[in-house]
Amino acid sequence: MGKGSGFGKVILFNEHFVVYGIPSIASAIDAKTETVVERVTNPSQLNPSGTEGSMADNGWVLEDQRPANPGYKKTKFKHQMESINLIMKAAKFDTATNNIRIHMAGDLKAVGGVGASAAVCVSLARALNSEFDLGYNDEEINAIAYEGEKAYAGTPSGIDNTASTFGGLIRFQKNLEGGENNIETLKAKKPIRIVMGNSRLTANTKAAVAGVRMRKEEDPQKYEAIFKEAQELAEKAQKALMAYDLEEVGRLMNLNHELLLQIEVSHEKLNELVKIARENGALGAKMTGGGLGGYMVALTPDKETQDRVAAAMDAAGYEGHKRMIGV
Ligand code: PMV
Repeated sequence: MGKGSGFGKVILFNEHFVVYGIPSIASAIDAKTETVVERVTNPSQLNPSGTEGSMADNGWVLEDQRPANPGYKKTKFKHQMESINLIMKAAKFDTATNNIRIHMAGDLKAVGGVGASAAVCVSLARALNSEFDLGYNDEEINAIAYEGEKAYAGTPSGIDNTASTFGGLIRFQKNLEGGENNIETLKAKKPIRIVMGNSRLTANTKAAVAGVRMRKEEDPQKYEAIFKEAQELAEKAQKALMAYDLEEVGRLMNLNHELLLQIEVSHEKLNELVKIARENGALGAKMTGGGLGGYMVALTPDKETQDRVAAAMDAAGYEGHKRMIGV
């Protein structure tokens, strides 16, 4: 039995812009997906149980027992199946000759905006690597997971699988020429408290990314100006994070949310969560990830504020998850 795990992530600055080569900043969070791969000798063991998220294809069966937003697994069913096949191919692993059972669990809730798909890809690549001694190092696991991410995100930037594989706080800049991406590890002086607000809506990252591309092509001038602001913001944000100037980090997160509103990837529920967070003492708040649903993130300076913001989200019918980043 081989085991593997992948962190969830939060994008602090410049989701969507990152797809076009603008620097972005993300962090792993203290929640994971854990995958177990087992060899199967009897083909009858390849029958899926029929519970939500169970599926089978070409020599493998998956039992997905991750906690999830209602409807998430159903919405992602096809993406997940395609993704698993892409991972097998990238890992040069033949499931027709090596039948396997895959079991997924862990404390990372499956919902858009938290890197759930990347955590699945990374944890599966690692579990396969471990069970079959494939000899892949972390860079290679990251590259295999990236192939799996394509099923969910179309043209993923690679930020999610990178944060999920390596952990910690990272600055990520996509290489638009197709070569190696520019990845820098950032070290914060101390861990930072955040609250991730769950809108309880399952959104489609692929559609959100495609929407930005379409609107950008329709109005290049408007988008060029917004993208320039995002570029400047990334540089300031990195400096503020390194200086542990949380007030400035929060202020820049608020500005980043405005840019994301302008490119139309937020949602009224995310905007409401942002408002709740700010009213309850967060230093800054913004949507995070693909948007149109999923999560937002609030920066909270201390435990008391973190508790208050999370409780206010719960009271308004959402879900506030208290997390640590930069660890
Ligand atoms: O929705 P998530 O958590 O998978 O994040 C997507 C991040 C985007 O920038 C919108 C897309 C990407 O590939 O970077």
